Amino acid sequence: MSWWRQGVIYHVYPRSFADADGDGVGDLRGLAARLDHLAWLGVDAIWLSPIYRSPMKDFGYDVSDHTAIEPQFGTLEDFDALVDAAHRRRLRVLLDFVANHTSDQHPWFRERPEFYIWRDEPPNNWLSVFGGPAWTLDPERGKYYCHAYLREQPDLDWRNPELREAMLGVLRFWLDRGVDGFRVDALRQVLKDPELADNPPNPDYRAGLPEYDRLLPVRSADHGDLEPVRAIAEAIADRDGVMIGELYLPFERLARYYGAGVHLPSNMHLISTPWEPAALADLVERYEAALPDGAWPNWVLGNHDRSRVASRVGPAQARVAAMLLLTLRGTPTLYYGDELGMTDVEIPPERVRDPWKEAGRDPARTPMQWSAAPGAGFTEGEPWLPLGDLALNADAQREDPRSMLALHRELLRLRRAFAGEDYETIAADDATLAYRRGDDWAVALNLSDAPAPMPVRGRVRLSTHLDHYDEEVDELRPGEGVVVEAS
Ligand code: GLC
Repeated sequence: MSWWRQGVIYHVYPRSFADADGDGVGDLRGLAARLDHLAWLGVDAIWLSPIYRSPMKDFGYDVSDHTAIEPQFGTLEDFDALVDAAHRRRLRVLLDFVANHTSDQHPWFRERPEFYIWRDEPPNNWLSVFGGPAWTLDPERGKYYCHAYLREQPDLDWRNPELREAMLGVLRFWLDRGVDGFRVDALRQVLKDPELADNPPNPDYRAGLPEYDRLLPVRSADHGDLEPVRAIAEAIADRDGVMIGELYLPFERLARYYGAGVHLPSNMHLISTPWEPAALADLVERYEAALPDGAWPNWVLGNHDRSRVASRVGPAQARVAAMLLLTLRGTPTLYYGDELGMTDVEIPPERVRDPWKEAGRDPARTPMQWSAAPGAGFTEGEPWLPLGDLALNADAQREDPRSMLALHRELLRLRRAFAGEDYETIAADDATLAYRRGDDWAVALNLSDAPAPMPVRGRVRLSTHLDHYDEEVDELRPGEGVVVEAS
């Protein structure tokens, strides 16, 4: 069985993980020095947000050289050393492939303009995800180019065969260097309507939503023809890599990407579903029903673009959420720091760095808190974003057998016993969500802050409170989740 069906992926935001050179920005040598934490925790792979050379307008999602490492992060030698060190610990390494766009500072933008999408006038009403029109005039050429994100991130034309070959070559470059797969960024935007027709208005738009949501992006994204997606998937599969696709889509649309060869089309719905038993049970069932034959599910609870789970559901329920993420059927992706229960950190206006002002993604990107030392054990210098409450740190939690970190480690071990088993809902009432995993295992989660009757029998193998094992219980305590084995 492929490793990624059993495995757990850990998402590292390299700027914020570990800083070896003291400039306040995380780097590859810092990350390499912290691999023991990840091996001890028990994850199977790390996915790194982009580490390529970049002017950092969108913190690496604006690539100016696909086969060079950004000097802030280190060198190619550091990268090779990181891959070696990870592999020695049985950790796979996945990179982020920014397929939809490059930086406007990429040499292609001047030397190979045909690699991008140009018109004499803006041909439609498309909006940039980050606000404003998706077309910007390049004064040098006197033409408009398309950009789904910042104006400094021009979109590539995947209908151009030479561009396609060049981008597939980038994948091969890294796969040949030992990378185990890719998370492909903004995959739904890669192919656009060839007519470049207008997007229709969004009937559900309300004041307060981002400007981008005024229109339904049915022409600018998620095009019916998945040919370029298939080409990317084939290039990765050809070297035995795993392909994850970043896709914010309803399940019916998401399912199509399996057919194009994407192993794990990201299922982001846990991030936005109300934290209520019935809503969650409905979500899991709709997802399971939408999966094509043979398709393997996956779950994401947080990432560098969304508010952290401990802030969304509160610190007590964050433990229950961890149990949910790590006991559902499918490959989970764990966002760095969530294993400690890190929350969003308030960013004073003068320290805001995110170019997407409407979203303000900095609070979920603050440095990993390794220790209670002044730089959180993250840096000897001034961290690029403020730190959170340092009482919450990895060193302290490693010593505490009931910490959030300890809970993650226990869950990561225990889940191997039932990772391949089927899912079936047992109960979803006002307080509790319970489900079976195969014949022998069940999970019961109390999403309320009152005691709740235990909806399933069995010996407790793990409680989110980490204080009792091998008993049968009649009641779940407030905010308690348990994994039980049929007795
Ligand atoms: C993806 C990334 C996000 C980035 C955007 C543009 O959504 O996750 O961080 O800003 O693509 O590349």
